Amino acid sequence: MPLPTPTPADRFSFGLWTVGWAARDQFGDASRPPLDPVEAVHRLAELGAWGITFHDDDLIPFGATDSEREDILARFIPALRETGLVVPMVTTNTFSHPVFKDGGLTSNRRDVRRFTLAKLLRNVDFAAALGARTFVMWGGREGAEYDGVKDVNAALDRYREGIDAVAQYVKEQGHDLRIAIEPKPNEPRGDILLPTVGHALAFIERLEHGDIVGVNPEVGHEQMAGLNYTSGIAQALWADKLFHIDLNGQRSIKYDQDLCFGHGDLLSAFFTVDLLEHGFVGGGPRYDGPRHFDYKPSRTEDADGVWASAAANMTTYLLLKERTTAYRNDPEVQEAIEASRVRELSQPTLGPGETPAQLTHATDVFSAAAADREAEAGYHFVRLNQLAVEHALGAR
Ligand code: GCO
Ligand code: MN
Ligand code: MN
Repeated sequence: MPLPTPTPADRFSFGLWTVGWAARDQFGDASRPPLDPVEAVHRLAELGAWGITFHDDDLIPFGATDSEREDILARFIPALRETGLVVPMVTTNTFSHPVFKDGGLTSNRRDVRRFTLAKLLRNVDFAAALGARTFVMWGGREGAEYDGVKDVNAALDRYREGIDAVAQYVKEQGHDLRIAIEPKPNEPRGDILLPTVGHALAFIERLEHGDIVGVNPEVGHEQMAGLNYTSGIAQALWADKLFHIDLNGQRSIKYDQDLCFGHGDLLSAFFTVDLLEHGFVGGGPRYDGPRHFDYKPSRTEDADGVWASAAANMTTYLLLKERTTAYRNDPEVQEAIEASRVRELSQPTLGPGETPAQLTHATDVFSAAAADREAEAGYHFVRLNQLAVEHALGAR
């Protein structure tokens, strides 16, 4: 069977820090040489990707002089033009430099917070100049190892102040840019603030400029917390806050693996693609943003392995797109969805104009005897899920 080939119409994007990861880890030195960003642009374009994303420091090293910065951009911008690759998202490194060791926007030290905010604001202008529409904010160092060292009430006040300041600046400068907060439960901090999609969504509700702030959920980050990724992005969609996604793979609750998409929980990846490509069974909000991969080519891989792993993300996504399309179009699946009453959930519980008080004595409500009788009926959910498994395995 021929494998599907990615094209820019699929809107696949990659972080420069993904294919560019030299594979230095907690215990070992880099296993690969640094990657020239210009080469990354050309290789990704050849593979059929549509976009490239980066942290400010991935492209322009921290502390670079103005002339160094100009030299880098003088090579990078033409590479984008030659290949047609776009920059849909830009993000800010507020975690690598040791000045961020106690966080950026929520560091106990006020002067560190001011430095962080200024770095973020400068990068907002850079993002807008490159045509990015999303500004991801991953606060990897915003957190602590010890409960007594961080006043969480004050930290959340400062986090709100920082993100509102960035959002206010975006609006004042007239940029067509939205902010996407990326949750993560831990690593590099022992515990990170806004650890899950749910925490981030609740936080956004308390912002002054929350209208342009949403989330960027990463597969592995929710799964590190033992949570269901598909269900997390579903709630973000329901809240109209799914501004961006980071696709990758994770095998259970452990350190952040950043495996290729589908190399962790494959059935979860099947339903993620099903939701992204086909929407909710009963209709509702749809995701139309980039299909962004935030993975790390394993430390065992050489340069060829890096590009093979980049291609693997896209191939798996497209295969799952094919398999989920077959699943959705299968009359047996449609019949099983009916039998499981999945669509009935879209029907409001109260009747048109019916008040809660009227329900308390409505005649169609189960009597105790009817509840006993009705409780015997099964929902046939296992059959529906088995059909999904069979489609995922290409058996149908
Ligand atoms: C991680 C994170 C980071 C962020 C990125 C965006 O794996 O812990 O995904 O890679 O996505 O830094 O700012
Ligand atoms: Mn990650
Ligand atoms: Mn990420």
